Amino acid sequence: MQKWRLDFRVWHWVHATVVLGLLGTVFLRKTFLSWRSNAELLTQKLSEINLEVTEVQAKVLAKAIRAPMWEWHIILGYALTALLLWRVILFFTQSGTQNYQNFKTQSIHKKIVKLEYIFIYSVLIFMALSGLIIHFYETLGLLKETAHSIKEIHELVFNAILIFVPLHIIGVIIAENQDEKGIISDMIHGGSKS
Ligand code: HEM
Ligand code: HEM
Repeated sequence: MQKWRLDFRVWHWVHATVVLGLLGTVFLRKTFLSWRSNAELLTQKLSEINLEVTEVQAKVLAKAIRAPMWEWHIILGYALTALLLWRVILFFTQSGTQNYQNFKTQSIHKKIVKLEYIFIYSVLIFMALSGLIIHFYETLGLLKETAHSIKEIHELVFNAILIFVPLHIIGVIIAENQDEKGIISDMIHGGSKS
């Protein structure tokens, strides 16, 4: 019997891609497509060709340049929500539960890894729910200020994902090179149950 059933492996890799994609959109928003730096750049470059724009106009232009990229945050956000629902269904399969069985008999290290997974799942559920609430705040009848406060928490909690992802990748690479040979390739070809 395989350790990871095909559907779980597909789920893991699609989910990893979507989360990395979401982090990518945040990275772009905060760097190359930051409206603050682009508004300054636009103001400067336009003035070089004798076009003066106000601060507000420059901000509108910079945000318009960022908008098509940020649409991907929402598209990937929907994908994440669907993937989390799929993960709930996978919980009814052996591949989806094995990491959380016989918890008491496991080493301290394994216990920490598994608690980290549970923690990150809770964080992802929070990100999906808060993200959807911010996106649909008008439909939900919420005030702009309330949506803004939720966005601040969404942004704060994002740091947990920023920490988990590199830790997880480094962790499985170390495990692969030490006493858990095949841990990564098992997630690719399925492996076999020990
Ligand atoms: C791109 C590099 C990645 C590699 C090589 C990788 C590899 C793995 C491996 C080998 C496992 C199984 C570990 C075990 O048996 O305990 C695993 C599990 C897991 N991975 Fe990744 N992963 C990657 C990216 C990600 C990303 C970006 C996320 C997003 C949050 C993620 C989320 C998870 C979760 C939640 C589990 C636990 C699955 C379960 O519920 O049993 N992974 N990963
Ligand atoms: C891994 C999951 C996610 C991460 C890491 C993440 C990260 C972030 C961050 C850091 C911000 C603040 C950006 C800034 O103001 O500089 C943000 C804003 C936002 N996110 Fe997410 N997010 C995730 C999931 C989602 C989901 C599932 C949705 C819903 C579809 C969503 C919708 C939004 C919206 C609507 C904003 C506000 C944008 C604005 O103020 O214009 N996010 N997200």
